[in-house]
Amino acid sequence: MLPVELYRGEEALRNDRVNVLRRTWQFVGHESMAPNAGDYLADVVGGAPVVVVRNAEGALAGFHNVCRHRAGALVADGAGNCSEGFTCRYHGWRYALDGRLRSAVDFGKAPGFDPRQYGLFPIRVETWRGLVFVNLDLAAEPLADLVAPLAARWPDDQSALPLVEKRTHQIGCNWKTYVENYLEGYHIQKVHPEFDSDVVVAEYRTEVVGEVVFAAAPPRDASVYGGVWGWLWPNLGVNVYRHGYMMERMTALGPSLTRLDYFYFYEPERKAELTEMLKFSDLVTAQDLQVCEEVQRNLEVGVYQGGVLSPKHEVGVAWFQDRIAGALGLPKPPKLAAVS
Ligand code: FES
Ligand SMILES: [Fe+2]
Repeated sequence: MLPVELYRGEEALRNDRVNVLRRTWQFVGHESMAPNAGDYLADVVGGAPVVVVRNAEGALAGFHNVCRHRAGALVADGAGNCSEGFTCRYHGWRYALDGRLRSAVDFGKAPGFDPRQYGLFPIRVETWRGLVFVNLDLAAEPLADLVAPLAARWPDDQSALPLVEKRTHQIGCNWKTYVENYLEGYHIQKVHPEFDSDVVVAEYRTEVVGEVVFAAAPPRDASVYGGVWGWLWPNLGVNVYRHGYMMERMTALGPSLTRLDYFYFYEPERKAELTEMLKFSDLVTAQDLQVCEEVQRNLEVGVYQGGVLSPKHEVGVAWFQDRIAGALGLPKPPKLAAVS
């Protein structure tokens, strides 16, 4: 197990943001959410405000959502259009969609001030099957490397499916507490007993390929599930259904507060099926919320200082903890040997 200090307190959160969340591919939405020139999506990634914008040529570009004058925001968080370019919300400096400073409006005479030195700070933007990711690390490996194992196991290109629903939940736990819960099926029989009518829970298996953790269980005949769940390092779940999919983004809002954003893409004519599925999804989330908040409360007390992971069920959790330790420059946590 990782040291419990990593699951609580501002310092742990800051370290995660700097060393993990701002150096990895972060899902921000679907291309269809910004179809026209000037359409933008402004979000907060690893605590850093960012904006992704479609330029006049139809390509997506990304920047930190911070003005070079005195750190004002270029746009409010959320979606919008700025086809004329960005105008800072504070004193009105104007930037082109490629990030160049066009005008430091009414700045006055300022010898030595060269506007060319005050362009926006760029970030990386890449897409896969219409899904838009950003990375604040300009030297990061391409997104394609990260998603390759998922592409191999999820052959259907469902990128034409519309975004039909977006739901948000807040959980009072550290983001890693939630991720670890997501990465094991050990808790399913106890926490989600209803799940057994959809898939054969006893045959639930977890596997790590590259930086993707897969879970699989044989779906029963009437199940809406495709039987594949993926998770991309470090904080994105991918749920594949027979007639759609859902991206589950896990955002650290505070040391003990996590926001879940669920993006559902589904065949729009299957309304009743979708309604059922959403109901079930809400139920599962509520059940996970309860256990994760109970775990977090205990992690913050200090009596529990670390336990053991099941080599049979918790390989995904072990991999995640090793990966976190590596990103933070810590030794890999000790673990029990697997028994074949
Ligand atoms: S902070 Fe942007 S114009 Fe002043
Ligand atoms: Fe769960």
